[in-house]
Amino acid sequence: MEAPNSDKKVHHAIVLPLPLQGHLNPAVNFSLKLASSKNFTITFLTFEFLHQQITQACPRDNSDDIFSRARTGLDIRYRAIPDGLPLEFDRAGKGDEFVGWCLHGGMFDLMDKEIEKLVLNSNPKVDVLIIDSFYPWASKIAKKFGLRSASFWTEPALVFNLYYHIHLLKQHGHFDCPDIRKDPIDYIPGVDSIDPQDLMSYLHDKDISTNIHNSIFQSFQEIRLADYVLCNTVEELESNTILALQDIMPIFAIGPIFQSESLENIVSTSLWAKSNCLEWLGTKPNCSVLYVSFGSLANFTQNDVVEIAYGLMESNVDFIWVLRPRTVLHESNHLLPMGFEDLVCGRGMVVPWTNQIAVLSHPAIGGFLTHCGWNSVLDSMWYEVPMLCFPVFSDQFPNQKLVVDDWKVGINLCKEKPLRKEITAQIKSFMIQHKGNELRKHISVLRKLLGNALEDGGSSSKNLDLFIEHLDQ
Ligand code: UDX
Repeated sequence: MEAPNSDKKVHHAIVLPLPLQGHLNPAVNFSLKLASSKNFTITFLTFEFLHQQITQACPRDNSDDIFSRARTGLDIRYRAIPDGLPLEFDRAGKGDEFVGWCLHGGMFDLMDKEIEKLVLNSNPKVDVLIIDSFYPWASKIAKKFGLRSASFWTEPALVFNLYYHIHLLKQHGHFDCPDIRKDPIDYIPGVDSIDPQDLMSYLHDKDISTNIHNSIFQSFQEIRLADYVLCNTVEELESNTILALQDIMPIFAIGPIFQSESLENIVSTSLWAKSNCLEWLGTKPNCSVLYVSFGSLANFTQNDVVEIAYGLMESNVDFIWVLRPRTVLHESNHLLPMGFEDLVCGRGMVVPWTNQIAVLSHPAIGGFLTHCGWNSVLDSMWYEVPMLCFPVFSDQFPNQKLVVDDWKVGINLCKEKPLRKEITAQIKSFMIQHKGNELRKHISVLRKLLGNALEDGGSSSKNLDLFIEHLDQ
């Protein structure tokens, strides 16, 4: 790791991620990177409810501060503040209500006051706000307090580009009009062509008047006022899109953002307790196990879960399945088919959550049945695990397009709803026929590309330095 340089200007950034696993992880890891190698003081802002969930999941870190064990030599200040709703409010179950609170409820005033306090009282002086792109008032707050604003984008540049040009989609009849066009979209700068079915799920919804939709639309107005965009991607992966976006605004591809090895396992960010799968994996031959996870947000019906369970069971492939609590929102007592765990005993492990990085880096893992959450895609490419793609919502459809069509490091699981026969057939062909074939060749090329980007002189490394040079001016 690069040593902090005492001659360089010290910056003080307030980092504010969305309170979701897939946004928290890169924000924590990016904060660690800035503090450990780039002379940054960080004030990491989060919410009490999230802090409570993390500390309950990992009682070892049951302190007031998730960074406490990484503190030596780093100036990271941690603040978990109330979000204005009762702690017991069901934010996961009432997602749209929660987003409404962030959009036009009390969240803006709360943040405004908190950031004012930090700006007035901090030493060194706060000079930059690194704030998740989905906060619909990010730049407004930064401007009010004379701070630079860096919009922190945790999805691929392609998705940013599509949302940014939503007005073009509307103008051309691919979004929000009576007769939606079904032909390919070929007018977005930097995107050769994309099939409408590969757009983000929010652009397919019939009702686009929800808080979530309004929040996305407002955020992409707000982003136009940001000084910079920091994107967790790599220039060489998405060169055309990034070039096109650079014509519009200063966007820096600085990914992939992971926790450095020296800090690994020191800062716990998991929202659920992690089951250890490593001992079990140690008993399995190389590349024989399918890792199955649909991330931190995707919801299924009970029937989907049953079909996936039978699909896995009948494939005869060994597997680890992360079946997160509340995968089915209104869970019954028998989520899995009766006797499932006995039937797959020895062949399969079902866990509520695990250390995904540790699992994917294990030699026994041969494939990843994934929802194509962006962090999972990056994890999978980093550890050279080919993907069997089953996107569920949001950015996961365009992410799948990148994985399957553009980079050829994965294949699709199925077109529509998952049905056991198709799942079984796809798993078999993916784990048996595809093992060691084209997908692996492509993924190992991409892994090198990701690694090179982070080396000194690599694109992401240079882009991060460039961003800091901008702040220095
Ligand atoms: C969603 C979107 O799909 C994603 O693209 C967006 O950027 C954030 O919101 P999520 O469902 O959380 O994300 O998936 P993903 O982006 O893959 O993030 C999941 C994170 O949890 C990853 O960092 C992964 O390493 C971690 N994880 C997952 C675990 O540590 N353990 C697990 O068992 C499963």
